Amino acid sequence: MAPTNESGTFDLDGELTVHRLGFGAMRLCGEDIIGPPDDEQEAKNVVQEAVDLGVDFIDTADSYGPGVSERLLREATDTSDVTVATKAGLLRNSDGEWLNHADPDYIRNQVLVSRDRLGVDSIDLYQLHSPDPDTPFEDSVTAFAELKDEGFIDHVGLSNVSVEQLEEARNHVEIATVQNEYNVLNRDHEDVLKACEEYGIGFIPYFPIAAGSISGVDVIQEVADAHDATVYQIALAWLLEHSDVTLPIPGTASLDHLEENVAASSISLSNEEYTRLAEIASTSS
Ligand SMILES: NC(=O)c1ccc[n+]([C@@H]2O[C@H](COP(=O)([O-])OP(=O)(O)OC[C@H]3O[C@@H](n4cnc5c(N)ncnc54)[C@H](OP(=O)(O)O)[C@@H]3O)[C@@H](O)[C@H]2O)c1
Repeated sequence: MAPTNESGTFDLDGELTVHRLGFGAMRLCGEDIIGPPDDEQEAKNVVQEAVDLGVDFIDTADSYGPGVSERLLREATDTSDVTVATKAGLLRNSDGEWLNHADPDYIRNQVLVSRDRLGVDSIDLYQLHSPDPDTPFEDSVTAFAELKDEGFIDHVGLSNVSVEQLEEARNHVEIATVQNEYNVLNRDHEDVLKACEEYGIGFIPYFPIAAGSISGVDVIQEVADAHDATVYQIALAWLLEHSDVTLPIPGTASLDHLEENVAASSISLSNEEYTRLAEIASTSS
């Protein structure tokens, strides 16, 4: 039987309700996140299946493809039925480099591009992909604040930021989410997660299953065996259990993996399992 999204909900900025287990659309693109995938229809089927299973929070970015991920989302499903979180602030060149580009003029250009590609009047959640060393952080954030005031975007998010940058951004605009790398094996941004909890901000852990490389860790495997689950499912279940504000966005181009990831939202860890898993990061580094 097909799984359903049992991850519970979170209210972005206290007003836009999404299911906590979302979907990351970066992996829909071709190799190295450049260009289209070999089978576009299959990629679109994954998106529609995610929505059918109850996923209503989808993360993407202008630089995925570039443009390919946003286009496929629009072609795959009715983007007005789901909350789409996109980003600007990084360029993807054909050599596969991610280049910072978060000056206000560029952000203002990209919001129009993304709005058109996604087929929406205003973007549900618009995230600064990364602070740009060549642009004062305040200038980038102010551009997002202005876009919100002008009705181009509904909610503002940040990505790849420190607690200090989160605090600074909050002086300029309400921040709905922070998206940083985080998973059961890598908890370097625990301080940012704690700050998000304090402020009621959604924390989107990217690389939630360490890009499919969570394996070979005895504790995770033992817990997985006890639940007749995979280690990836346990990594997702732990993220959902760890904090009420986590919004994991596992990415996949596979229907089987999608179903597996959604089914992880039904796994309930015991206190002992949760604690054993919580201790891995400090013991594995
Ligand atoms: N803000 C940022 O700077 C930033 C950076 C990176 C990513 N992101 C966002 O975060 C999302 C997730 O990150 P991610 O895709 O890099 O990492 P991830 O979700 O941890 O891992 C995705 C990888 O794991 C594989 N996978 C997925 N489910 C699996 C399963 N059940 N069993 C085995 N393998 C599985 C996928 O391959 P298959 O296709 O074969 O399933 C894919 O290669 C992205 O889609 C993107 O939206 C944001």
